[in-house]
Amino acid sequence: MYSKNDFGEKFRWGVSLAAYQVEGAYKDDGRGISIWDHFSNRKNRIEDGSNGNVACEFYYRYEQDIALAKSLNLTNFRFSISWTRILPDGTGEVNMLGLDFYNRLIDCCLKYDLEPWVTLYHWDLPQALEKQGGWTSRIVVNAFIKFADVCSKSFGDRVKNWIVMNEPSTFTGLGYLIGYYAPGRFGINNYLPAVHHATLCQAEGARMIRRNLPNATIGTSISCSYVAPSSDNPKQIAAARRVDALLNRLHIEPILGMGYPVKDLPVLEQIEKYFHPYDEELIKFDFDFIGIQNYFSLVAYNNPLIPYLQAFVVPFKKLNRPLTANGWEVHPEGMYRILKQFSAYPIKELIVTENGAAFHDRVEDNCVHDKRRLQYIQSYLGEVLRAKQEGVNIGGYFVWTLMDNFEWRAGFRSRFGIVHTDFVHQTRIIKDSGLWIRDFLK
Ligand code: BGC
Repeated sequence: MYSKNDFGEKFRWGVSLAAYQVEGAYKDDGRGISIWDHFSNRKNRIEDGSNGNVACEFYYRYEQDIALAKSLNLTNFRFSISWTRILPDGTGEVNMLGLDFYNRLIDCCLKYDLEPWVTLYHWDLPQALEKQGGWTSRIVVNAFIKFADVCSKSFGDRVKNWIVMNEPSTFTGLGYLIGYYAPGRFGINNYLPAVHHATLCQAEGARMIRRNLPNATIGTSISCSYVAPSSDNPKQIAAARRVDALLNRLHIEPILGMGYPVKDLPVLEQIEKYFHPYDEELIKFDFDFIGIQNYFSLVAYNNPLIPYLQAFVVPFKKLNRPLTANGWEVHPEGMYRILKQFSAYPIKELIVTENGAAFHDRVEDNCVHDKRRLQYIQSYLGEVLRAKQEGVNIGGYFVWTLMDNFEWRAGFRSRFGIVHTDFVHQTRIIKDSGLWIRDFLK
């Protein structure tokens, strides 16, 4: 078994949270409505019929939760900013009470000696912008630049680390291609412009932060899963390459100046329709780090019936590997493989900004013996170390997530925390996985 020292002194240890999943207080202090408020308050959208209106009440309980993170010997705390607390209509008037909240939150992190890491966009687009087309419309770009401007100017005196976006492939794919996440739109004509505008915003948001804060550490977080072919037949290898292009390469290669992976996914040629002059340049940015968010791996196979992709992934159940409570496969080696894959790009530093697992937890005598989550974290972390020891420049590991929270479409049923949340009484219990992290980081 490895120890904390094996990762080196400079390695950052942290937890990640997202505004909509924890804050609650959805109408308080002038906050505007986001696509997730709208979506989760509609019928039959969230699996357990819940919504994020109250969530973990982090808006009021942040100090207690930050103290909890501190008690686990963590030194970095990642959270996102709710766009509609700052700009209730997405653009226009700034809501001073929203700024006040994040000022208190940042000050509290510093008081507890936790380095704040701010994500600008973790999926909660203002509903007012969605009404004007949301991510499918170019109007989102200027609105996002303004949001980045306000946040970096307001918090940049204390926040050094910035993550422009959380998983563009997830919110564009699930939100605008298959309609499973907010805002629930589908089809290629929604998806492709959403992809392009998200790509643009990633770079434009970063440029705005850099302009206001020349010394900031700026990154963006990409969801990525190692994709293996179902056999070594060339057809299957080509199918895996297409899935890899869609899920792993689509949002990183344009930033690096490589353009969209059209060679492997010809449908992406249609993105050009949404290009304005100079966009090829505007989608590039020299990030200080790229956030890697990995949970599972995939096995892809050729399937001519699937439009555009002509491929599909083997259902996790058929892979004969252990599964998490939400049906994702546990495959620690995939973490190693995806880190190696990304290390081939000219990226300054990789940081694992999310990794974790949902399991069915039981509270017994005020304890949660989440052995499987503990094993999951230990084994994935071991693979991070393996990649690091082979020379991959990995600068940190952030667990997803501190406490059980609103898990998007799954509601409160999927528990990812290293701390248990009782959503009725808003009490917290540190799970065994959290206790292990505390001792490991001592
Ligand atoms: C997201 C989190 C989410 C987690 C588990 C990541 O894709 O960034 O918001 O809760 O996965 O589904």
